[in-house]
Amino acid sequence: MDQVPIKHAPILLALGGDKSRRRYRTKVPLSALSAITIVLAFQLLILPYYVYQKSPSALRLSQYHLEHLDAGLRKCAEYNTPPIQYPVPASTRINPRWNPKTGQNETIILRNVTLFDGDTILKGAYDVEFADGVFKSVSAAGTFPITSGIKTWNLDGKFITPGLIDLHSHHLAMSWPMLAATDDTNEVSDDFGSLTPFVRSIDAMKAYDVATTIIASGGVTSSLILPGSANIMGGEGFLVKNLLRSGPTGEEVVEEILLEHGVPKEERRRYMKMACGENPRRVYKHTRMGNAWIFRKHMERASSVREKQDAWCLSAAAVKESGDVAAIAELVQSPQRDEATDSLELDSTIAMLRGKIGINVHCYEPEDFEDMLGHSKEFGFRIQAFHHALSAWQVPELIKESGENITIATFSEFGFSKKEGYESNLWAGKILSDHEVPVAYKSDHVTEETNAKYLLFQAATAHAFHLPADLALQSVTSVPARSLEIDHRVGFVKPGYDADLVVWDSHPLSMGATPLQVYIDGRATLDPKKVTESHAKAAVAKDPWTEHPKQRKIVSTAVKKELCGLGAAAGRIIVKGIKESYLDNSPVIESGSDSNNLTMVIQGGSITCFGDSCPSPSAADTVIELENGFVLPGLTSVSVSLGLLEIPSEQGTSDGKVSTQSSGSNAEEVVYAKYGVHLDGKNFNRARIGGVTRAISAPAAGGFAGGVSVGIKTKEQKILSLDDGIFQDEVALHFQIGQKSKGKKATDSISSIAAAISKFRQILTDNKDKHNLYGKAANGTIPVVAHVENEYDIAQLVRVKKDYPSLNLVIMGGSGAPLVADELAAAGIPVILTANRGAPQTWEKRNALVGPPLTKSAAAVLSDAGVTFGLAIAGEVDAHIHNLPIEAGWAAKYAGLGKREAVDLVSRNIERILSLDVREEKRDFVVWEGDPMEFGGTVVLSFDPEAGVVGTCWPEST
Ligand SMILES: *[C@@H]1O[C@H](CO)[C@@H](O)[C@H](O)[C@H]1NC(C)=O
Ligand SMILES: *[C@@H]1O[C@H](CO)[C@@H](O)[C@H](O)[C@H]1NC(C)=O
Ligand SMILES: *[C@@H]1O[C@H](CO)[C@@H](O)[C@H](O)[C@H]1NC(C)=O
Ligand SMILES: *[C@@H]1O[C@H](CO)[C@@H](O)[C@H](O)[C@H]1NC(C)=O
Repeated sequence: MDQVPIKHAPILLALGGDKSRRRYRTKVPLSALSAITIVLAFQLLILPYYVYQKSPSALRLSQYHLEHLDAGLRKCAEYNTPPIQYPVPASTRINPRWNPKTGQNETIILRNVTLFDGDTILKGAYDVEFADGVFKSVSAAGTFPITSGIKTWNLDGKFITPGLIDLHSHHLAMSWPMLAATDDTNEVSDDFGSLTPFVRSIDAMKAYDVATTIIASGGVTSSLILPGSANIMGGEGFLVKNLLRSGPTGEEVVEEILLEHGVPKEERRRYMKMACGENPRRVYKHTRMGNAWIFRKHMERASSVREKQDAWCLSAAAVKESGDVAAIAELVQSPQRDEATDSLELDSTIAMLRGKIGINVHCYEPEDFEDMLGHSKEFGFRIQAFHHALSAWQVPELIKESGENITIATFSEFGFSKKEGYESNLWAGKILSDHEVPVAYKSDHVTEETNAKYLLFQAATAHAFHLPADLALQSVTSVPARSLEIDHRVGFVKPGYDADLVVWDSHPLSMGATPLQVYIDGRATLDPKKVTESHAKAAVAKDPWTEHPKQRKIVSTAVKKELCGLGAAAGRIIVKGIKESYLDNSPVIESGSDSNNLTMVIQGGSITCFGDSCPSPSAADTVIELENGFVLPGLTSVSVSLGLLEIPSEQGTSDGKVSTQSSGSNAEEVVYAKYGVHLDGKNFNRARIGGVTRAISAPAAGGFAGGVSVGIKTKEQKILSLDDGIFQDEVALHFQIGQKSKGKKATDSISSIAAAISKFRQILTDNKDKHNLYGKAANGTIPVVAHVENEYDIAQLVRVKKDYPSLNLVIMGGSGAPLVADELAAAGIPVILTANRGAPQTWEKRNALVGPPLTKSAAAVLSDAGVTFGLAIAGEVDAHIHNLPIEAGWAAKYAGLGKREAVDLVSRNIERILSLDVREEKRDFVVWEGDPMEFGGTVVLSFDPEAGVVGTCWPEST
């Protein structure tokens, strides 16, 4: 055998090197495309070649050259193989993830289910059969034969859906509790810059991330794990099923949680994560112009390499055919060969150009969609989905015109956190679907706020804002499946699909819908004991099929004008059709009493009559007839920063932060929110549609020292008036205890939690008898709110309270509060809970209860222990504030509280805990159409009796 000096060492690497390249060795059938290439090559090149140069030296053809030519040709074949198109699956399909050791080992049949099959909610009841991790049949309920050896679960009409699919998650790459050492989401380094198409989320995954199990418990069975969005090209994403240790050995192996485990590597789907807009701009300090150039330059290079690949492949096919030794040797050793057949760095970018990678772009704003669509036309790549895309509703036709059926993978209500999220619109799902743009909801899971466990909550919210029910359910099942081109396996409950299935405790689009069981590949993943225990107090939904969740009420502009234009303070307003009221000093009508149909008369902002014998309206009265009227006290939100911060990433929209350089020792240095508050902004609109009439806002703390919060009204202000908009100048003194109290800079005065607790004690001791703010705090005249999460830090505060009994101490946050609930109850310390749907996101929250179906809810534990508590919503900004009544409904469901108690969680309890000066006769009240603690409840009017006016009238919000 001829030994030829190895000129091209990389070739050997390419053949036997690392994992990703090994797949090039496997035999890939020549696709139609490469067949065409060969035919063309034959006609254009090989035939003439043969004529001139019929090779005499074929026998001396070196084995080395031939092997390398063949290796190159196999790569060429792979380049030109399009992703496999799978047929509609048949019930005989095999689930490649199944294994005989831990795979589904007995046929299961769920009887009498209400079924959303991925397309629609089917009429009637069904039996669903699955075996070996695959759905075998779906038949009308009662028709499936009773057979022995089959495990049967009769569901009495309960709802089932396909396992949910999350198009955008970062769990596994960044595991919970988050630690510096395990944050592998963004490849940000000086070495690579903002183009890292060659990195892969699979290299970041930790197949032990506890978030995976929490996410699955929310019914999310498949997730696309994407690299972060710091980079213009962030790298490749991978699909997983959210079942850890799902292989035969039960070990924590990444390969075994991949959705395409069991599929040959070269046949697996590939996904590229890209980003436009603010993130790469901020991280790399380029403008949008610079970022576009960086990207286009890269694509130009990739295009040119692709052309070289094609040229080399054409020549290779030709010389192979000719058998010309010299030509083969020359081609194999040509400098183009390396670049053409061995460009790992450009592999994924070139695959983009060849249509072999699904492109998922983080992109929010109209100008960024337009720019990215322009790039896709310039270089010829197809975008699968725009992610986040909070402004997509502004340009649905622009997106549609691309002709690529691009999916908008978005949030239903998250927003305002940065400029590019400031156009967030609660109606976006409806608007986009009206334009036939496919909509998917996704989590962006990484924090408690984006917890993928609650993916369905987004679809349900979108439904309340008029996305039709089928589309809302498709948005977390079949739409993401189609977008990802895995709709031959997941996203549907139909014969032949993977047996990923969720049994819900109520209609999936209703408030608080929670899985009773989640099957992944036919394997039950929830422990029935825990499900029962965590659901113990929840009332059983009657009939999920008939209890269809409501959508928000919209009124015509004419009706609105007529009602709202009257300056209602002047005349009488008569509201008919009130079914439930949760006011004091009013007829007690609670839920369930269908016979109630009361009338309320309001004059000058106060109720003058409420009952079934109020005077009949006169011609001058404004009459409102409700179908399902509710009257509630105005809700009070202990806000994130309402009135003090509009867009967290924009300093110019914020009042600023309390300096961390002052130790907080000096009462004279304390900051008062009443001096900084601005009474407008988009967050106020959301407060109004949530029936939130009052908010408590504290100065933003940088560390231990907070400041004094202010009480503000959220009503629309006709005249700019601080006197009218502020209802209480000074509410409480705030401190942060825990990780947030630790300073980050050398100049910060508090550098440890211990130092914060010491300082807190010292402040109380030093000022006990003084007539300053701290003196008032020490003697309980003003409440002290400690923002604290961890159970041990809370326990420290229980001790402080014991040592300073007159202190009026309030715990805010309280992830760990359920763990010390008895101590809190005994010490009489109330809690304003923001961890209603908590999660072990950080180390200090690592023992937070994650709630049903895995654990009891935080509210259930606090309630059982007799702790006085209310609810608030945490986050970066107040974009979720409209959900306050829904949160109350959720807490009440799993804590077994009645509706009156639920209302109290977000009104009277907060007032009581913070000693707010709200007497019944001056309490705001809000008239709703529909139940505020269910999706679809809509504020009709709110009243401010103190000012004698209508606070809002059919408020609207984007
Ligand atoms: C199936 O597997 C489960 C869990 O490993 C086991 O408890 C059960 O006994 C098995 N059933 C059969 C029929 O083998
Ligand atoms: C299914 O369950 C519902 C609700 O319990 C019941 O009314 C119905 O009769 C059941 N249908 C069958 C076929 O068992
Ligand atoms: C676009 O995608 C949606 C959602 O996956 C699908 O229902 C629809 O049929 C697609 N439309 C076209 C024209 O392919
Ligand atoms: C409620 O009572 C009013 C009369 O006061 C009547 O017009 C209306 O139809 C009733 N609504 C219901 C749902 O019974």
